[in-house]
Amino acid sequence: MRGWVETTRGHGRVAFLVVRDGTGTLQGVVLRKRVSEETWKTHRALTRECVVSLTGSVRKDPRAPGGYEVGVTELVQHSGSDEYPIQPKEHGVDFLLDHRHLWLRSARQRAGLKVRAEVEQAIHDYLYRENFVRIDTPILTGAIGEEAGTLFETDYFGERAFLAQTGQLYVEAACPAFGKVYCFGPTFRAEKSKTRRHLTEFWMVEPEVAFADSDDNMRLQESLVAYIVERTLERCAEELETLERDTELLERVTPPFPRIAYTDAVELLRAGGSEIEWGSDLGAREELAVAEHFGVPVFVHDYPARAKAFYMKENPTDPRTVLCNDLLAPEGVGEIIGGSQREDDQEKLLRRIDEEGLPKEAYSWYLDLRRFGTFPHSGFGIGVERTVAWLTGRHHIRELIPFPRLLNRLYP
Ligand code: 4AD
Ligand code: MG
Repeated sequence: MRGWVETTRGHGRVAFLVVRDGTGTLQGVVLRKRVSEETWKTHRALTRECVVSLTGSVRKDPRAPGGYEVGVTELVQHSGSDEYPIQPKEHGVDFLLDHRHLWLRSARQRAGLKVRAEVEQAIHDYLYRENFVRIDTPILTGAIGEEAGTLFETDYFGERAFLAQTGQLYVEAACPAFGKVYCFGPTFRAEKSKTRRHLTEFWMVEPEVAFADSDDNMRLQESLVAYIVERTLERCAEELETLERDTELLERVTPPFPRIAYTDAVELLRAGGSEIEWGSDLGAREELAVAEHFGVPVFVHDYPARAKAFYMKENPTDPRTVLCNDLLAPEGVGEIIGGSQREDDQEKLLRRIDEEGLPKEAYSWYLDLRRFGTFPHSGFGIGVERTVAWLTGRHHIRELIPFPRLLNRLYP
């Protein structure tokens, strides 16, 4: 076995070491009388994060962490390690984030990121099985995807370019080519607030489906989320245990998810003492209150048009609202998905672009999609970090991305 030394202890006749090899950790036992003088000396000189290879025989031992240990016969050190800054004691979060490149090696961080990797794979598997075609959308874009307020702008050979806030407009364009498509990539928002739910760079999966209405859209969302939960419970039991996640609440996540119209959600909130007015978006506090009320993921649908993005379809039964939904997760998480049926009427879409003060020229190609065979279609975006934060029960989403980008953090 080859790997990095996590701990060493013991002397006299018997010594121990715990080695991490990338798949997990294993305890080795070194008996002085069974090994060469050289191996014994090597063990004594080891420090945290040295690289070693050890040879020995594996045996079952219920006292060992993980249930197995290695009786070491030979130990070779390949590299040393300076004094390791991360110690078993409590460190402040700024210190840990400054050392993110090393913090990744810690057990809880490994567990959280392993769940993330499983969730990403589960999403690909689900959508592949459902015959979605993956479309890679550009990061450098000319048009504002979501809203003007949170754009990262850069110079593109003398032209203004933005880092993509969403791949949505491009998957909409791919829809008439492939019917069911999705993109999966990093998206960027210059969020100037420091919250536990916001990153400036986060990963989003955005399915888009031709001839699907808002109701179909919500059904796809609940089916995908239920699959993600099921896969995580099935394949990440060890990681969830490391994170001390109470999985009982996750086991209750089965479709159909409850649905509540925005207007009813406002009533519910006001009855509970909130002063929210009809027309404003739900803030973090309101989202958490609605999600807690249900205790399972809940759809809030048909928000007021003015609280949402320009591309959402006007609700024919109440034109003040749009055919959209957010999916709110319980346990203090809030919105993990935003989705909508898209405005397929060119005139209405143009009006919304005007109302939002967006530059029409930049959307001419997007408007073409309404000129050349417009069609009902819907889609959504699920935030990977927020979803994994919910599944793992971690409070802050910054731990669920390998190298978080935050308001004051570009390194490491
Ligand atoms: O609600 P949002 O802004 O929706 C869109 O971007 C649409 N274009 C999606 C679509 O219909 N194709 O973002 C979708 C999700 C949110 O629900 C949240 O999970 C996540 O992306 N998200 C963030 N995650 C981390 N940090 C941020 N700053 C985030 N902003 C959004
Ligand atoms: Mg949203």
